[in-house]
Amino acid sequence: MHKKTILVTGSNGLLGQKIINQLKNRKDIKLIATSKGENRRIEKDFNYESLDITSQTEVEEILVKYKPDSVINTAAMTNVDACEDDKENCWKINVDAVEYLLKACKKHNSHFVHLSTDFVFDGEDGPYKETDVPNPLSYYAKSKLASEELILESNYENIAIARTIIVFGNGDNLSRGNLVLWAKGALEKQSPINVVDDQFRAPTLAEDLASGCIAITEKNATGIYHLSGPETMSILEIVERIGKFYKLSTDCVTPIKTATLNQTAARPPRTGFIIDKARKDLKYNPKNLEESLEYLDNQI
Ligand SMILES: NC(=O)c1ccc[n+]([C@@H]2O[C@H](COP(=O)([O-])OP(=O)(O)OC[C@H]3O[C@@H](n4cnc5c(N)ncnc54)[C@H](OP(=O)(O)O)[C@@H]3O)[C@@H](O)[C@H]2O)c1
Repeated sequence: MHKKTILVTGSNGLLGQKIINQLKNRKDIKLIATSKGENRRIEKDFNYESLDITSQTEVEEILVKYKPDSVINTAAMTNVDACEDDKENCWKINVDAVEYLLKACKKHNSHFVHLSTDFVFDGEDGPYKETDVPNPLSYYAKSKLASEELILESNYENIAIARTIIVFGNGDNLSRGNLVLWAKGALEKQSPINVVDDQFRAPTLAEDLASGCIAITEKNATGIYHLSGPETMSILEIVERIGKFYKLSTDCVTPIKTATLNQTAARPPRTGFIIDKARKDLKYNPKNLEESLEYLDNQI
């Protein structure tokens, strides 16, 4: 049996960890997990190589070594405000490194799957379909759109872009938290929190996104795919529904407006995705928020 070789970048990150979980025991797949520095997973029962995607030499060497059938690039600088403050590093990780990966994939005819974001849109009229016109507001969003453009305009057709929105879930030693875990923690402790009621998103269970990315590689799908949760709601509604699900009071929650936060980077007001293309082509069938919370509970 020909084993398909799949190389995943950013395997210490939230999405990376879920892709590894879903692939590591598959007999038909040879998996190479890579991330910057040490493998931070608790169970190290998979093949791991350290790979800093901003090193063109490292990228080229690892592609020569494994000649993967597919590469899934989940590695990125994902903190939106940090990207605004450190534009140079943001561009190196989110754009230049993508070019190195793309070039190396082209050389070995590897299918290249790259992750992007709802933030490529300005949020004036979400939910969005794949063919809608981007208009990024922040430096992070600009860098992600630039990475999409360099892939789409490269004359290499063995590529796919998976855009997603507010990804949540549990993981080992993650370098950043996520909205759902943060809100659940605050409601459990009844810590006072301010939550915006004027940003609308489609929260996405990390496992669902991982399944969608894997379906893209297995079908060798090409082009842009929107992979988010099925429902768009305000951040306040997300927190309220978490409270309702866990029977926790939301009296500690103060609804606020985005403008009062004075965040470094601008956020699009209303995103959300139309996911019909992924449902049809990839059989992508994401869970709603309550189903996702139930899934998370069963994990613990
Ligand atoms: N999370 C969201 O809400 C969201 C929304 C829209 C789009 N996305 C996109 O989805 C993708 C996956 O996001 P995620 O939630 O899994 O993010 P994440 O948890 O921040 O994971 C990203 C991983 O990339 C690693 N990384 C950073 N620089 C690297 C480098 N130079 N070489 C190799 N690895 C490097 C990070 O390492 P360290 O852990 O060591 O820092 C981190 O583990 C990203 O492309 C992101 O832009 C995410």
